[in-house]
Amino acid sequence: MLKTFKLANNNFLSSLDMSSLEVIRILELANDFKSNDLNIELKNKVLGLIFDKSSTRTRVSFQVAMSRLAGTTIDLNPTTSQIGRGEPIKDTARVLSSYCDVLAIRTFNHCDLEEYAKWSSKPVINALTDLEHPCQALADYMTIIEEFSDFKKVVLTFIGDGNNVANSLILCGALLGVEVRIACPKGYEPNAKIIKKALEILKDKSLLKITNDPHNAVSGANVLYTDVWSSMGEEDKKVEKDKDFSGFTIDTNLIEKADKNAIILHCLPAYRSKEITDEAIESKRSRIFEQAENRMYAQQALLSCLLS
Ligand code: CP
Ligand code: NVA
Repeated sequence: MLKTFKLANNNFLSSLDMSSLEVIRILELANDFKSNDLNIELKNKVLGLIFDKSSTRTRVSFQVAMSRLAGTTIDLNPTTSQIGRGEPIKDTARVLSSYCDVLAIRTFNHCDLEEYAKWSSKPVINALTDLEHPCQALADYMTIIEEFSDFKKVVLTFIGDGNNVANSLILCGALLGVEVRIACPKGYEPNAKIIKKALEILKDKSLLKITNDPHNAVSGANVLYTDVWSSMGEEDKKVEKDKDFSGFTIDTNLIEKADKNAIILHCLPAYRSKEITDEAIESKRSRIFEQAENRMYAQQALLSCLLS
């Protein structure tokens, strides 16, 4: 059984707010929470949830995580608070952080999240921005280590849009020494600054590969991962992106090229028959619902490290 520890950084805006050792310790704590080996209480602590975009998993897993830790949450709907009226972030952040002990924020521009963190007197957690989804990456790597004993022997192939989910997989993967291959159509490569940061961390630069060829990228992979082709806020791009991503569906044909014990992940929500087939989601290789469950344990661990 492990004891919780305090993260060196006050905020969790990016996967890079953790050191390699800290990610491993968070994942170990998450595993202890899952096996009920921990009795950490955040009694009377309050988590404020500010979500400018829809959410099922992140919102509910944070609420249940906090309640399992004996704390509470306030779910702030921008349309019924003054946030929707356009109150400046610097005012909202100062006020809400004087009531709450920690804030989890889902918004569009990453710089808005950074603005919250700048003015908040309490820790701020990234609950998804257009740039990163670091809470998702914690649950993803927790699910991967449940299956494979050594991150350094894992090849993770992400097939799809080089967006927030892929960016956090790249950064967290670099911290853990995982070989990460991203296969995306031309023009949908991950953010150049994210790639640069990952390469700065990786001693072996060949552990990060960006390609436009999904077939090559899945060869011998241990983990196949995908995300929606059109993210929240890109609803008007659906027709164009569906066309651009043709050939990037995780289906039987691609799965057969991966390692025979490969697992399949998806952050959800999914568009079945677009980025992944129904058959792949429901197959015995799928760990998608374990991955979704792990969001809760990973966030229990994260909250206890930010608030201890
Ligand atoms: N994976 C994820 O973040 O799901 P939600 O959008 O439902 O929170
Ligand atoms: N890339 C997706 C992830 C959803 C969890 C989005 O931003 O909508």
